[in-house]
Amino acid sequence: MIKPVLFVSALLLSLTPALPPAVVQDAPAYTASGSLVAPGNYREWVYLTSGVDMSYSATTDPDHHVFDNVFVNPESYRAFLATGTWPDKTTFVLEIRGAESPISINKRGHTQSTEVMGEELHVKDNGKWSFYDLPGGAKEAKLIPPPATCYTCHEQHAAVDTTFVQFYPTLLPIAKSKNTISPAFLKEMAAPTK
Ligand code: HEC
Repeated sequence: MIKPVLFVSALLLSLTPALPPAVVQDAPAYTASGSLVAPGNYREWVYLTSGVDMSYSATTDPDHHVFDNVFVNPESYRAFLATGTWPDKTTFVLEIRGAESPISINKRGHTQSTEVMGEELHVKDNGKWSFYDLPGGAKEAKLIPPPATCYTCHEQHAAVDTTFVQFYPTLLPIAKSKNTISPAFLKEMAAPTK
């Protein structure tokens, strides 16, 4: 004989729809060969900053001008607002566009090219950050394996969890208030400016 209680709970279980697993909607995805699938909709993500002619070296071509625009996936942005640091499955896109002038009614300064020259990505997965390179128009971003200079510069100079929050004006005050700034950058901030 089937015990009524067991029968009822078995019936309830069969009627309860399976709960979806807790997934991060905008998490990074990979190809079978380990490349990162280019996040096609990153222009709908959260915008953090634009840099103009930022360069890693002091000697650059004065006639070559570029913009970089930085975006982060919305779920990680919301987590940063709450905690001052980045959760697992964070993806940053740094998009590079040419600086143009003069076009249309613009007589001075620079506007951004419609063509994307390339993208660099910074992804936190399984607690580990990795860098990827996406040439203009490509669909898959290639891993840049450590030890590339990407890793050393970001580890040594970036303000929060190897990301350059010191240049993301809406995020730096949050990191300060949550005390998540790296000891190295705290020291840099305390040093007298030249
Ligand atoms: C000498 C220092 C330096 C090196 C080397 C470097 N970066 Fe960065 N990176 C920066 C700075 C500064 C920013 C902030 C950009 C801004 O404010 O627009 C940045 C921002 C980024 C971001 C936006 C997310 C974040 O982490 O803040 C990505 C993505 C990125 N870099 C990718 C790369 C890749 C890929 C390489 C290697 C090919 C690289 N970087 C090498 C200094 C560096």
